[in-house]
Amino acid sequence: MTVEFGIIGGSGFYSISSKGVEENIETPFGTVAVNIFDINDRKVAFITRHGLKHSIPPHLVNYRANIFALHSIGVKQIITSSAVGSMKEEIFPGSFVIPDQFIDFTIGRPKTFFVDNFEVKLNNGSIRKGVVHVDLSEPYCPHLRDELFIQSKKIAKNAFNNGVYVCTEGPRFETPAEISAFKILGGTLVGMTSVSECVLARELGICYSTICLVTNFAAGMQEKISTEEVFAVFKSKVLELEEIIVNTIANLEISAKNCSCDK
Ligand code: HPA
Repeated sequence: MTVEFGIIGGSGFYSISSKGVEENIETPFGTVAVNIFDINDRKVAFITRHGLKHSIPPHLVNYRANIFALHSIGVKQIITSSAVGSMKEEIFPGSFVIPDQFIDFTIGRPKTFFVDNFEVKLNNGSIRKGVVHVDLSEPYCPHLRDELFIQSKKIAKNAFNNGVYVCTEGPRFETPAEISAFKILGGTLVGMTSVSECVLARELGICYSTICLVTNFAAGMQEKISTEEVFAVFKSKVLELEEIIVNTIANLEISAKNCSCDK
């Protein structure tokens, strides 16, 4: 089976409206449930990052299994959604942001496929093994980002291009002091998930981009942050989010790909 596109749905985005076929994909890291469906004539696999009932917290997501499962069915481009807090006054809750950089503050997650003589055949046919240092000068695929932003602007009232995603370990939210430090470092958004996926996808030569939905201002910029608030904002925007991702996949001009994610 060859499936060109993958979607990983984050908090609040657990399924896609189109009916698909459920499959369990075995990987060296565990079994992954995917739902495979069509967008126009393009085959797409959907994975829910936190499980259907949001039972898997960000620090325990099996990132390697999810990315490897998509790779093993042929996926070359992955779009994900991420709930985030905003560190900029002008990017308020309900906004969509397509980040172009990240800073990684995670501490306890497997960060690479390449341990114990791991060897993999990429979907461009080349073999990758041994000591692997991938280039992350452009961590999020520019080709996917451009189309995501075009489609976001058509659908969402507030869409922002570019920004630095700061990834924390979670599952707790941050302290105001941490947010002040992240601002000094140049952070725009704070979340708990997107970075491991982005790095692992690059290790397998897969284009990866995320669309962030701002659910709150970061700690210290509003009174308190609650999980209920995060989910309420997400629920109010999830249909827009789905439409943006579906339209991005439907309109992406693969032949015009201008990235080097699989090089
Ligand atoms: N911090 C980290 N992750 C998040 C936040 C936040 O403020 N909001 C939604 N996900």
